[in-house]
Amino acid sequence: MHLPSSIAAAITLFFPTSPYALADITAPAPLPQSLLTTASKLAASLKVSYPNQSVALLVQPFWWWQSGSAIDALLSYAQTTGDSQYNSLVQNTILGQATGTKDFMTVDATGNDDQAWWALAALTAAENNLPSPGVPWLTLAQNVFNEQKARWDTTKCNGGMKWKILEGDGTDGYHYKSSIANGLFFQLAARLAHITKDADTLAWAEKAYDWVVGVGLIDGNYNVYDGTDDAKGANGCVDVNHSQWSYNTGVFLHGAAVMASQTGEAKWSDRTIGFIAAAKRNFVNAKTGALFELNCDGDNSCNTDQVSFKGTLARWLGATAALMPNLKANVATITNGAATAVLNGKTTGLGPIASFNAMEILDAGLRTQGVEMGQVIGLVKGAPKAKRSIAGRISW
Ligand SMILES: *[C@@H]1O[C@H](CO)[C@@H](O)[C@H](O)[C@H]1NC(C)=O
Ligand SMILES: *[C@@H]1O[C@H](CO)[C@@H](O)[C@H](O)[C@H]1NC(C)=O
Repeated sequence: MHLPSSIAAAITLFFPTSPYALADITAPAPLPQSLLTTASKLAASLKVSYPNQSVALLVQPFWWWQSGSAIDALLSYAQTTGDSQYNSLVQNTILGQATGTKDFMTVDATGNDDQAWWALAALTAAENNLPSPGVPWLTLAQNVFNEQKARWDTTKCNGGMKWKILEGDGTDGYHYKSSIANGLFFQLAARLAHITKDADTLAWAEKAYDWVVGVGLIDGNYNVYDGTDDAKGANGCVDVNHSQWSYNTGVFLHGAAVMASQTGEAKWSDRTIGFIAAAKRNFVNAKTGALFELNCDGDNSCNTDQVSFKGTLARWLGATAALMPNLKANVATITNGAATAVLNGKTTGLGPIASFNAMEILDAGLRTQGVEMGQVIGLVKGAPKAKRSIAGRISW
C-alpha cells in the first residue's frame, strides 16, 4: 500500500522539485535538512495515529509488539535529531506497559518476541540516557533477559528460544523456534553486555548466535530463514522454514555490529558486513532503491505484521552506522537509495505503519549523512506539526 494520500501530498508539497531522480540510487544522498524535516513530520504523523494521545499504543489491526517497536523508532528519531518533544510520551508508555513485575509480561506478551521488542525499546532508552521517572530502563531490559535466559530450551534441538512462551493447543507456535525470538534474544544479550560489561551476558550472545547458525537458520551467505519446528524428528529441528523476512536480517545485523564494537573481533565485523550485503541483495528494490519486503511487497500482500518489518531493518541499519563509523559508507549503499525513494513518495505501509517505515528509513539515512547526532534540532524547528482534526484524521 502507498502512503495515505494526505501524507504523500504533504511530502510532495514539501519537496516539489526533488533533485534526485528516482532511479538514480547511487546519487549523493539527499540533504540532511530535507530528511530531518520530513522525518519530523512523520514522527508527528505517527503520534496522531494513537487513539489516546497520552500513550503511544497502536490499536487493532496492529499488534502490541509493533507499538514497542514504534517506541524504539521514536527514541531513535529523538537521538538522531535532538527533537525531544516525544520524550515524555515515550517514558509514560514504556512504564505503562512494564507491568508490576517490571518485565513487560502484559496479556499481549504471548511470544518471547513480543516481550523482547519492549525490552529493546527500554534498552534504547537506557543507551540514549533518557531519564526514567520510574523503574530504571536497564532494569526492565535486564529482567526480560534473565527470564528469557531461563526459557532457553534444551529439551529439543540442543537449545534455542521458543517462539511462544506457553504451550496451548499445539497449533500456536510453542513448538516453533523462530529466528525473530532468537534474534531479539541475541541482540538483547549483545547490547546488555555492551552496557554492563558482563562476561556471562556476552557469552549468551555468542551462544544464541552459534545455535541459530548451527540449526541452519543463518546460511553461509547470511540469508536468515524464518524458523524451525522443535517437534519434528527425534531431537527436533530437522528442517528449516526458508521464508525470508527483512527484520530477521536486521536483528542479527545490528546484534553482530554491537558484538564487533565491543569485542573488536574480525569475525563479528565480517558477519555484520555479510548481513548488510544480504539485506541489500534480498530487501532492496533494484529499480527504485526502496526497501522491499521480498515475500509480500511485490503483490501488496503484506499483512499488518509484515508491513512493518522493513522499518525495523532500516532502524538497525542506521544504528549500525551510528555505532560503527567504518561501516557508514557500506550502510549508505542501502539507506541513500531507500531515503531517496521515501523523499520521492515511494513508501509502502498500512495506515500508521507507512509513517513508521518512512520515518525509520529517513532516520537511518540521517545516521549515515555525517549529521552530528542530536545537534540538529534547530533544523526541525520550522517543521509544521501534524494536528488531529475533529474527524480524527491526520491533517497537516
Ligand atoms: C489515556 O491514557 C491515560 C494514561 O494511561 C489514561 O490516564 C487516560 O484515562 C486515557 N484516556 C482515555 C480516554 O482512555
Ligand atoms: C514459514 O514461515 C512463514 C512466515 O512466518 C509462515 O507464514 C509459514 O506458515 C511457515 N511455513 C511453515 C511450513 O511453517
